[in-house]
Parts: sequence; C-alpha cells; structure tokens
Amino acid sequence: MTQESEQMEPQWHDNIMQTVGNTPLVKLHGLSKLTGCLVLGKLESFNPGLSAKDRIGFGVIEAAERDGKIKPGGTIIESTSGNTGYSVAMACIVKGYRCILTTTDKSAEEKIAQLKALGAEVIVCPNHVPSDDPQSYYSVAERLSKEIENSFYVNQYYNPANVEAHYKSTGPEIWKQTAGRITHYMATCGTGGTISGAGKYLKEQNPDVKVIAVDAEGSVLTKFHQTGILDKSQIHSYQLEGVGKNIIPSNVDFDTIDRFIKVDDRSSAFRARQLTKSEGIFIGYSSGACVEALMRMRREFKSNDIVVLLFADHGSKYLSKIYSNGWMQKQGFIRKIADYAPSYQIQRRLERVFNKYIKNYGNI
Ligand SMILES: Cc1ncc(COP(=O)(O)O)c(C=O)c1O
Repeated sequence: MTQESEQMEPQWHDNIMQTVGNTPLVKLHGLSKLTGCLVLGKLESFNPGLSAKDRIGFGVIEAAERDGKIKPGGTIIESTSGNTGYSVAMACIVKGYRCILTTTDKSAEEKIAQLKALGAEVIVCPNHVPSDDPQSYYSVAERLSKEIENSFYVNQYYNPANVEAHYKSTGPEIWKQTAGRITHYMATCGTGGTISGAGKYLKEQNPDVKVIAVDAEGSVLTKFHQTGILDKSQIHSYQLEGVGKNIIPSNVDFDTIDRFIKVDDRSSAFRARQLTKSEGIFIGYSSGACVEALMRMRREFKSNDIVVLLFADHGSKYLSKIYSNGWMQKQGFIRKIADYAPSYQIQRRLERVFNKYIKNYGNI
C-alpha cells in the first residue's frame, strides 16, 4: 500500500439505493434565450432508476418498518405509473421484500418491462375506469394489501414519507446548487410529492420563491386549487404519465403551490422532442409538460430570475410513445402527408417539401 492510497477514502456504495440523489442542474440555453432569464434543468434521470421517484422508494419502506407496518419477509404493494414502482422494486431487492405493483394500460410498455425485469409482480389494470372502480389500479392495490398477510400498501398519494423525501433531498439540493438564488421552481404534479416537498423547503429558505405546479388537461388539480371544488366534469383520459390526477391526493400541498398551469398531451410531446434535440438532454414526457408550462409563462420573467425546471425522468422510457413517429401519428399529433393531399401528385410534392424540412431541421 502506498502512502497516497492510505490517505484515500473508499468511494463505493453499499447498495444501489445509496446512489440516489445529487442529480445535476444544467443550464438550458434555448429556453434561457427565449425567456431572457436563466433557466436550469434538474436532471432526475441521473438517479439509478432514471427518475425522481427513486428518492422515495427506500424512505417509504423504512418509515413503514419504523412504524411496525411491515415485518421481514413481507410484501410491498404499490399503485404506480411506473417510476415509483421501479424505485420500490429496487428497494425491495435491497431489503428482501416481495414486490407487487399495479399499473395501468396507459403506462409505456418500456416502463412495465422494466418493472418485470426487476422481479416485481406487475398487474396491469384498465386506465379508463373511475378511481373507485374495483378494477382501478388504486382499488386492486388496496384489495391485495388487505388479502395478503404482512403486506404494506405504500400509497404514494397519501403517504407523507413521499413529500418528506423531496423536502429532505430535492429541495436542499436545488437551494445549494443555485446558491440560494432560485426565484421560480416548476415541476409536474401527480401525487404532489416532488412539487410540495421541495417547494416547501425552498419557500422556508426564501418565501419569495414562486412554486409552480404543472397539471394535465383532464385532471382535477388546477380547478381544485382555484376553487376548492373537486369538479369531476374536468376528468377525461389523457396520455401524459405521472402528471395530474382524478383524485385529490393529500400529498399535494395547495398552500405551498402558488399556481397551477394546465398543459395538453400534444404540446408536451413536441416540447420534449424539441428540448432533447436542442440541448442533447433526453427528457421524458412529463418534462416536456414542464417546458410547455414555461413557454406559456415566458413573458412574465425578469432578466435576473433563475427558474428551475424539474425534469422527472428519462426519454428512453417513452421510445414507444412520444419518440415514435408512429405513435405520434396514431394520436393525431403528427398528420400523415396523405391527410393533406387531395391527389397523388400533390402528395409527392408535399413529401419532397417534408423530406427537405426533415433534412434541415430534424423530425419536427
Ligand atoms: C414521469 C413523472 N413525472 C412526474 C411525476 C409527478 O411527481 P409527483 O408524484 O411527485 O407529483 C411522476 C409521478 O409518478 C412521474 O412518474
């Protein structure tokens, strides 16, 4: 052993969950130019499961252990659009629990395959049913947790350990990385953990920080924030994953959130594709929703503002969706050339223009 190596500290981790967090904050050049202020992306895809949800998996299980809600050899159950499931599945491997996940047929197939690869038992439930329907992914998870002995239903929508994880890690990281100069924090809102936990921490450091939640068309959260009414007529199905809700999770802290901005499936998909191509940062679908929300606010920023957009996950989870031209066409987001052409000749001409455009500017 050399003298130098004697002084070195070992740098390995005991298990994969210890690698969660400390994700980078990166300047988004195009958006900074467009808004005239500094726009930064918090890249949660640097977590081992490629999403912000990695921050909650271990914590929620440890809290359940502390409270005596789960004992060794037990089963952890969760309803998830995929990312929390991934995090919980990793934590279950490290801690030695059986893992059952309920998800919906809206989740990208890559995400479901990832859960199975981690050894989780995955039950795919229909997306087009009300939350209280016995077939919904919430109801199935709850029923299983009653039927299976020594099991624990994480229930990220109502479990305070979800918010706490972001209060203790995401918030302090953003504060430190911006040297306390952040003025706006924007993140998509599903269970509410990411926006509420980090938002609360940031507001405690500086009450002037604006906390902006991004919601989906078809969700009830924005109207509830404005009126206190759960308006079921707002509910319709949509494609964005992890954004918005048809219930009011207790983890959404409506007092911490200054404002909700609702965005649509189509714009969010195109924003994700654009940002990925312009910055070289491969972002997921909900991150595109965040970019769209920023674009809608772009005239409101001042030159010394520092805006942090939380990019919740990685684009590779949506290769079969927003990064597939076939899927985009199926949704009607990209029209086929033939749709515009009244004759074969015009179709050929349009194709030439379209191909030239693709060559010069990329796919969109
Ligand atoms: C891709 C993605 N973005 C955003 C969110 C929303 O985060 P939160 O549940 O903390 O509100 C989720 C949650 O599942 C998600 O999976």
